Amino acid sequence: MQTELFDLQEEGAFAPRQPACDSEARAIEDQRFPFEEISKIAQQESWRKEINRPIYHLHKWWAQRLGSVFRALALGAFNPPEADIIDQFYKPSRINGTVFDPFMGSGTTLGEVLKLGGRAVGQDINPVAFFLVSNALNLPHRDAVLKTYREIEADTATRLLEYYSTDLQDGRRGQVLYFFWVKIVDCLHCDRPVDLFSSYVFAQNAYPNRKPEVRIVCPRCGSIHSGKHGEDDTQCPECQLRFDPLAGAAGKTKATCTSCRKSFRIVDAVRKSARPPRHRLYAKLVVDAEGEKTYLACDENDCAAFKKAEQELSAFAAGNDLARTLPRFSGDRIGLSESFP
Ligand SMILES: C[S@@+](CC[C@H](N)C(=O)[O-])C[C@H]1O[C@@H](n2cnc3c(N)ncnc32)[C@H](O)[C@@H]1O
Ligand SMILES: [Zn+2]
Ligand SMILES: [Zn+2]
Repeated sequence: MQTELFDLQEEGAFAPRQPACDSEARAIEDQRFPFEEISKIAQQESWRKEINRPIYHLHKWWAQRLGSVFRALALGAFNPPEADIIDQFYKPSRINGTVFDPFMGSGTTLGEVLKLGGRAVGQDINPVAFFLVSNALNLPHRDAVLKTYREIEADTATRLLEYYSTDLQDGRRGQVLYFFWVKIVDCLHCDRPVDLFSSYVFAQNAYPNRKPEVRIVCPRCGSIHSGKHGEDDTQCPECQLRFDPLAGAAGKTKATCTSCRKSFRIVDAVRKSARPPRHRLYAKLVVDAEGEKTYLACDENDCAAFKKAEQELSAFAAGNDLARTLPRFSGDRIGLSESFP
C-alpha cells in the first residue's frame, strides 16, 4: 500500500524513457553548478522553515528538505551544462521530463519538479509519508476539504484540546503549543536514569544574535530559567546549581552519567535494555488568553494527561487499522536502525 507508486501528472503507465534534455544532463559534480549561491538561498530558507516553507509542505515531517536546493537540482538536471541556473531559478522555468523519487519522504523533490511543470512519481516505505505527500500534491476540492475539516473538528477538537489545556503559574488556564520530551537511558555503571540532553538550552530564537534570550532546563531540579545565547555558565534560581548549559549529558555517541559522572556508549545502554530509549516529558510552551507565550516545566497533571491519552490510544488502536500500523514506523524504530546499527 504505502510503497505503491503514484504519478502526479498522469494516471497509468510510465512515460517512455527520454533524455532529460537535448544535450547531456549536467552532473551534480559539475563545477559550473552554482553551489555557493544556492547555499546562501537555502540558508535563508532553513532559518525560518515554518515561514519560508514551500507551498506543498502542508504537513510536519521529521526532516523536511529545502525546496530551494531541489529546485536548483531539478533545473541543473534538466538543463544543458552551460545554462545559467541562478538566472533560471528566479524565472518561471519549465522542465520537460519525469523524476522518480523512490524515497520521497516529505515530497520536496516531487513538489519542486511539479512546480517546474515536470512529471513526478514517488513512493516511500513509510505509510505516513505516502499519505501526506499524496494528499499534499493532489488537487483537492476546496469544499470537500472544508467539510472534512469541520467534521474532524466537531468529532475531536474538544477531546483533543483537553490534553493541551494546562494550569498557568497565576492559576488561570492556558493552552499548550508544544510539549518537550527527552530520551532516557540507564547508566551502565550505576543503573540510574540519564536524560540524554545534548544541551540544556532547549529553546532559542531563530535569530539568536538579534534575540539572544534562551531557555534552559536545570539538570538537577528540572525547573526552567532564561539565559543568553552562547553563555557557558548559568545558575538555577530554584536549586542554585551552577552548570554549563551547553554541556548536556549526551554527546554524539557517549553519555556522561549525571549521577556517577562516568561515561558510557549510548548504544551499549540501549542494547542492554533491549528496547528503544524511554522518554520523559520535561517542558511545555504555553499560550495564555492574551496570546502571551511562556515556557514552563511539566507537572504531574501533564504526565497524567499523557498517560490517559496513551490508554485511550491503545483502546482505540485495538479497533483501528491505521493506528495499529503507525507504531511500527515510529521515530524510535527509525532512529534505532539508523543511529544504533
Ligand atoms: C530523507 S527522506 C527523503 C527526502 C526526499 N527525497 C525529499 O525530496 O524530500 C528518506 C525517506 O526514505 C524512506 N525510505 C527508507 N528506506 C526505504 C525503502 N527501502 N523504500 C522506500 N522508502 C524508504 C524513509 O521512509 C524516508 O521517508
Ligand atoms: Zn535547579
Ligand atoms: Zn552512573
